[in-house]
Amino acid sequence: MDKLVIEGGIRLKGEVTVSGAKNSVLPILAATLLTDEPCIIKCVPNLRNTNTMLKILRSLGKNSDFDKGIVNITSTKNLNFTADYKLVSTMRASFCVLGPLLGRLKKAKVSLPGGCIIGVRPVDLHLKGIKSLGASVSVESGYVVAKANRLKGSHMYLGGAYGSSVLATDNVMMAAVLAQGETIIESAACEPEVVDLAEFLIKMGAKIKGHGTPIIEIEGVKQLYGATHTIIPDRIEAGTLMIASLITKGDITLKNVLCQHLGALIDKLQEAGALIVKTNGSVRVYLKRRLKPINVTTLPYPGLPTDMQAQIMSLMAVTPGISVITEKVYPDRFMHVAELNRMGAHIQREGPHAIVEGVRELTGAPVMASDLRASASLVLAGLVARGETQVSRIYHLERGYENIEAKLQSLGAKIWREKE
Ligand code: EPZ
Repeated sequence: MDKLVIEGGIRLKGEVTVSGAKNSVLPILAATLLTDEPCIIKCVPNLRNTNTMLKILRSLGKNSDFDKGIVNITSTKNLNFTADYKLVSTMRASFCVLGPLLGRLKKAKVSLPGGCIIGVRPVDLHLKGIKSLGASVSVESGYVVAKANRLKGSHMYLGGAYGSSVLATDNVMMAAVLAQGETIIESAACEPEVVDLAEFLIKMGAKIKGHGTPIIEIEGVKQLYGATHTIIPDRIEAGTLMIASLITKGDITLKNVLCQHLGALIDKLQEAGALIVKTNGSVRVYLKRRLKPINVTTLPYPGLPTDMQAQIMSLMAVTPGISVITEKVYPDRFMHVAELNRMGAHIQREGPHAIVEGVRELTGAPVMASDLRASASLVLAGLVARGETQVSRIYHLERGYENIEAKLQSLGAKIWREKE
């Protein structure tokens, strides 16, 4: 296993290009199961998770080649309807093959995804949605087994205790596009990645309206066709790089970024005193004065993304004053607190809140990544800490950030990879 070593204290400066969105490409690759025709997906990030999804598609009967950011998907033989445990258990997002398999084959057997370090992560809303379309669902030795003679459109409410569900909305949408009649999803997720999936499905011939709002309407069609699609920029990678600029008191310009997908984050960073200058397709992030502490609460889109919570915490850890961070989507998503405290941060967890008392400086230390965004927060802390930080288990980071050390090196960071 590799680790990242970071020599802190360097102000990052320059330009960097944001990759395609991980949380968009995964469901879109799953959606290619809905047709036998070739699909071409562009601006695909070369990530551990992307390659896992391609492995799953191949196990289901698809052919794929992936070169220079372009994925070509073609069909070989009849689709297999079982997504096996070995692959699905390594990546929760693989559960979003359930909807397209059910939509296309009227049967699906998909391993239940494990929980992960950020929470239990149930799938009750996914199953509620497909049952509402007429599927019978059972759980047999760790697999969800779903089947239906036919899928019939229905009017459903898909909100849970923590609000809308991104992948449940994706799964239900991908089952409903080939169902008979109209489906209405109330309390649908509004994330840009859900919109990107809907746009791809529409290019395939689906009839979808209201995507990006809490009410999505789908008119079932008989068949879907091949399509070509370019993935939207990764707003979470963009937000992470914005914080890399601010935490090092640098001056970074991001290319390939859609600021309209980052409204809540930009609003909060500006409240803290960040200078954020948008020009078409790119954005410059820097600061002139010391940042002020801020209070943030994560919420489903368009609220502040939970996937930015750990990164914001690193920034507030070195911002003098008291910041309160409230996590409303995954109340246990605080694995990074202990690791940041090992670097000299003063963070106290109180249930779904973290009280962050900004310190003058962090000190480099050996720390351990636990999940994708926690690892990003430790890298950010390492960029500003005095001395050397070693972040181990960086396979977590590789799931969701394409060439992150090369990108940071190009901005002047002293960061390199070593064998554990
Ligand atoms: C997606 O996960 C993202 N992953 C996550 O990003 C992101 O944190 C999350 O949405 C929230 O924005 C992908 O898109 C691949 P949810 P998803 O269903 O869809 C509860 C990252 O770092 N819930 O929107 O699995 C759930 O426990 C990853 O890139 C139910 O109760 O998340 C959570 O509290 C991490 N029942 C809340 O809803 C269900 O059936 C939101 O989860 C489903 C979810």
